[in-house]
Amino acid sequence: MTYQPELSVLKDGNAVASTAARVIAAHIEDSPAAVLGLATGRTPLAVYADLRGRVARGELSFDGVRCFSLDEYQGLPPGHPASYHSYMCRELFDHVDIRQDDWHLPDGTADDLAAAGAGYEAAIRHAGGVDLQLLGIGENGHIGFNEPGAPFESRTREVALAASTIRANASEFPPGDTPPTHALTMGIGTILEARRILLLATGSRKAKAVAAMMTGPIDPAVPASALRLHPAVTILCDAEAASCLSGDECG
Ligand code: PGA
Repeated sequence: MTYQPELSVLKDGNAVASTAARVIAAHIEDSPAAVLGLATGRTPLAVYADLRGRVARGELSFDGVRCFSLDEYQGLPPGHPASYHSYMCRELFDHVDIRQDDWHLPDGTADDLAAAGAGYEAAIRHAGGVDLQLLGIGENGHIGFNEPGAPFESRTREVALAASTIRANASEFPPGDTPPTHALTMGIGTILEARRILLLATGSRKAKAVAAMMTGPIDPAVPASALRLHPAVTILCDAEAASCLSGDECG
């Protein structure tokens, strides 16, 4: 069974972020013990800023909300400035009233990464599963760090990063640091078990990946195309990220 994701093309990145924050805030207001799956990267930065603002103004509380991040670099200590642990603390967790025990990332420093992946899956299951999963999309169509070719039934596991992903994220690392080549990521199968999925895409760099996700073959070559197997996916794009969807030749 395949589905057509609900697509909203919005004016710009700010509109994408404020719409996403509104969806997440409404979800938390409706279910204060919600389980959120969270993405890192540049795209959701303004979403987290919006959510922090709501909490600072007393309009929203994360008390009781559980959060599971999608992925973490392999081998980076949690305190490394480019780790996703640091990112999530800096952008969200340090600024909201979430309980310390209620937010989780895969442990990229574990000696046994297979056990860490299985433990992460168990923790998500124990929480009752992800209610709302926030996603970005890579220029190569990846979701989380599920690079092209990742099986649709994959679970949280160690993966090798595509060279293009390492290049795209290199600027997150201090000069002189060698970016990691591997990561621990929720699998595509893990992501597809979320009850609802919200994917954000902004900027022309994402236009081809968005078109492939929405209109190309449903195939592991484009990991995000797996989202068309899920009945409750919303895609929020700005006009640039949607620019290859018209069917016209896209350069
Ligand atoms: P970006 O990354 O938000 O930094 O573009 C998205 C992704 O790679 O999933």
